[in-house]
Amino acid sequence: MHIRTAEPEDIQRIKRLYQAVARSGDGLARKEHEITDEYVEGFVNKSIAQGLIIVAEHPTDPNELVGEIHAYQPGIEVFSHLYSHLTIAVHPEFQGKKIGRTLFTIFLEEIGMNRHNIGKVELMTRESNERAIAFYQSLGFRVEGRFEMRIKDKHGNFEADIPMGWQNPNFEFD
Ligand SMILES: CC(C)(COP(=O)(O)OP(=O)(O)OC[C@H]1O[C@@H](n2cnc3c(N)ncnc32)[C@H](O)[C@@H]1OP(=O)(O)O)[C@@H](O)C(=O)NCCC(=O)NCCS
Repeated sequence: MHIRTAEPEDIQRIKRLYQAVARSGDGLARKEHEITDEYVEGFVNKSIAQGLIIVAEHPTDPNELVGEIHAYQPGIEVFSHLYSHLTIAVHPEFQGKKIGRTLFTIFLEEIGMNRHNIGKVELMTRESNERAIAFYQSLGFRVEGRFEMRIKDKHGNFEADIPMGWQNPNFEFD
């Protein structure tokens, strides 16, 4: 499996990947129709310019991706030590094969080794995604609270969003 940083040319591949993941379940907050060009261009360009974005290529089809992770600095000075808006997605046909763990491990290693200006990585995950919460905890993230009634499901029920954070052991405050 080839893993690399993303380029602007990957935008349509990432869009197709996110649409497939959104179609298959509710792990992503956005529904398939909300995976728009504007949304994908926005996070890809911000992650390239002021964050980190890593993709896993399809094993046989060079025009498809099977996984992606990104986060970026929110863009104002008080948050400049943060990578936020983290999202990770693995294609439904490739989930459970350690692609997500490999992408996330490389992502955190890059920050720990080479991005000493980044003190913290933040993410949010819905309360019911217990496997994802356990997965993030196994990578060193901690639960930092609970945003009650933040997510509405298709039946009109609400659930909490869980903020989680990972602190860079090699952070250098300047
Ligand atoms: C969550 C996700 C990124 C994990 O990637 P993956 O390649 O499927 O997972 P891996 O095989 O690397 O396994 C990592 C952990 O993820 C968990 N996991 C596996 N499939 C999962 C799924 N469909 N949903 C949630 N968690 C899953 C497992 O518990 C696993 O833990 P383990 O290593 O202790 O067994 C991926 O399943 C996915 O994209 N799910 C849908 C979208 C989503 O939930 N994104 C996160 C929103 S915050």
